[in-house]
Amino acid sequence: MRIVVLASGRGSNLEALIDAQRDARLPISIAAVLSDKADARALEVARAAGIAAIHVDPRAFGSRREFDDALFAAIAGARPELIVLAGFMRIIDPAAFAPWLGRIINIHPSLLPRYPGLHTHRRALEAGDHLHGASVHFVTAELDGGPVLGQTRLEIRPDDTPQSLAERLLPQEHRLLVACVGLLASGRIRWRTTGIFLDGRPL
Ligand code: GRF
Repeated sequence: MRIVVLASGRGSNLEALIDAQRDARLPISIAAVLSDKADARALEVARAAGIAAIHVDPRAFGSRREFDDALFAAIAGARPELIVLAGFMRIIDPAAFAPWLGRIINIHPSLLPRYPGLHTHRRALEAGDHLHGASVHFVTAELDGGPVLGQTRLEIRPDDTPQSLAERLLPQEHRLLVACVGLLASGRIRWRTTGIFLDGRPL
């Protein structure tokens, strides 16, 4: 399966996908990595792996919508079958990704539907939660609100801080993302507006 990854930062989830592909655990090819940040480590990770690394600079456009259109024109140029948002920190206009519904997923560091948006680790601690985790979901018009494809859970310890939670969760995120991309690459899971289907049957 041909995929494109969008990332704004460190790119550790991208690295997990690259490693899984290299070890033949994941039948994917990464056609391009796009970022809104010129200095995103994710772009370096892509270049080092011989993957096209594309910076689309938001400051070069007069409006958010023009940026989104340019971003998705660049994505379309890479002809992906799946778009993976892995730490992409911009909100995209739903009209821009409407043609990709069902073929665009995001990894989010909370047990959705809890804590869409930012500062998820801090919010889970402040709420006194005992469980935390991460979710991979299909992207829809609702921020971090699309159908969940998979989740990983983590028990919160009394001495946890937002940093310690983030650190312990990250390796689990990597495994979750690889597993979910693998499911989609298998062709067995699909999302239609009526729900998620496994082998053609509603889940
Ligand atoms: C991850 O925690 C992911 O869940 C969130 O942003 C972070 C990205 O990390 N959406 P990385 O850039 O993949 O290292």
